[in-house]
Amino acid sequence: MSNDGVNKGRRRFLVATTSVVGAVGAVGAAVPFVASWSPSAKAKAAGAPVKADISKLEIGQQMIAEWRGKPVWIVRRSKEMLDSLSKLDGQLADPMSEKPQQPDYIPHQAYRSIKPEIMVMVGICTHLGCSPTYRPEVAPADLGPEWLGGYFCPCHGSRYDLSGRVYKGMPAPLNLLVPPHNYTDDNTIVIGVDKEKT
Ligand code: FES
Repeated sequence: MSNDGVNKGRRRFLVATTSVVGAVGAVGAAVPFVASWSPSAKAKAAGAPVKADISKLEIGQQMIAEWRGKPVWIVRRSKEMLDSLSKLDGQLADPMSEKPQQPDYIPHQAYRSIKPEIMVMVGICTHLGCSPTYRPEVAPADLGPEWLGGYFCPCHGSRYDLSGRVYKGMPAPLNLLVPPHNYTDDNTIVIGVDKEKT
């Protein structure tokens, strides 16, 4: 990255404002009522879709939503970030995401996203479940001159690119998971609902 301003932007993080779709979120804090839920209602809440508002997500930033108790990363990628993805295919274990780590309607090419600039993925390492660190900067001293931005897992060193594609020879066997999701408008992503069902 040559643009220092964007680099600074990349280092900033934004915690997502998420809400559970429907009425479940509104009663989530009402403990007595929660305690009276039936098991099926609890199960439904645990798997309920969540909405993420990406209107304040700037280029290079990552925000974190929570779905089914897991972190879901949403990144607004710059043109430079997208351009870097196609340079990495030869270094990746599954560059076309042929192993089932994403819904069928998500493009399998390098972007792995409905909109090229907006990446959505579950932030859990496919090795033993740590949460990798967002490292969007290019060629930082600790990751080396070849690093074009991506994710680094602090537990055992697995590396992923900015589409969550794992590099060859890592402890992690698979690309990061892309959850089912869709857009209800330009700035609203619903996570946990397949595209054809919205
Ligand atoms: S859990 Fe990420 S490399 Fe082991």
